[in-house]
Amino acid sequence: MLDTENYAVILRSEAETLNLGADLATHINAPLIIWLQGDLGAGKTTLTRGLLLALGHHGAVKSPTYNIVESYSFAQFNVNHFDLYRFQTPEEWLDAGLDELIDSNSISLIEWPLQGEGYVPEPDIILNMMTIAQGRQVQFIAVSDHGKQTLAPIIK
Ligand SMILES: Nc1ncnc2c1ncn2[C@@H]1O[C@H](COP(=O)(O)OP(=O)(O)OP(=O)(O)O)[C@@H](O)[C@H]1O
Ligand SMILES: [Mg+2]
Repeated sequence: MLDTENYAVILRSEAETLNLGADLATHINAPLIIWLQGDLGAGKTTLTRGLLLALGHHGAVKSPTYNIVESYSFAQFNVNHFDLYRFQTPEEWLDAGLDELIDSNSISLIEWPLQGEGYVPEPDIILNMMTIAQGRQVQFIAVSDHGKQTLAPIIK
């Protein structure tokens, strides 16, 4: 039995990051909260783009750095893509009314979640992304039981 609580993979190209997002897309069910952590350029938006394209989104996936959130609706659920990088204080999560977007029918991917620490919803899954010589490394952490069930087929 694999340890789904702590597992890492190396992504050697942008295409591999997109593929991981696509793989995630086939295993997610609402409600789900995924924290995407890692430095600028670590691949958080790229992974989200792979997930959205695999779900059937056509067109651009804008980085929500300026708008804080971009939402996408699909037949099975809505996907909210947050980027809290520009928060000055964590309370901005409340001020912006972002809780309203989190419901039983939503999947939320949150870049820079600690910028909203204390207000942002707790994760089912944390993906820690890192730039390394070979490309990117992703560490998977399943926090909740739902997170574990979601990751189990992905990190086989
Ligand atoms: N596995 C990979 N190997 C090499 N380059 C990659 C890989 N995955 C993504 N990239 C590239 O990294 C760059 C930055 O990616 P991305 O915008 O997804 O980062 P980010 O983590 O969202 O950064 P930010 O915190 O600034 O929003 C993009 O040019 C993308 O093509
Ligand atoms: Mg980004």
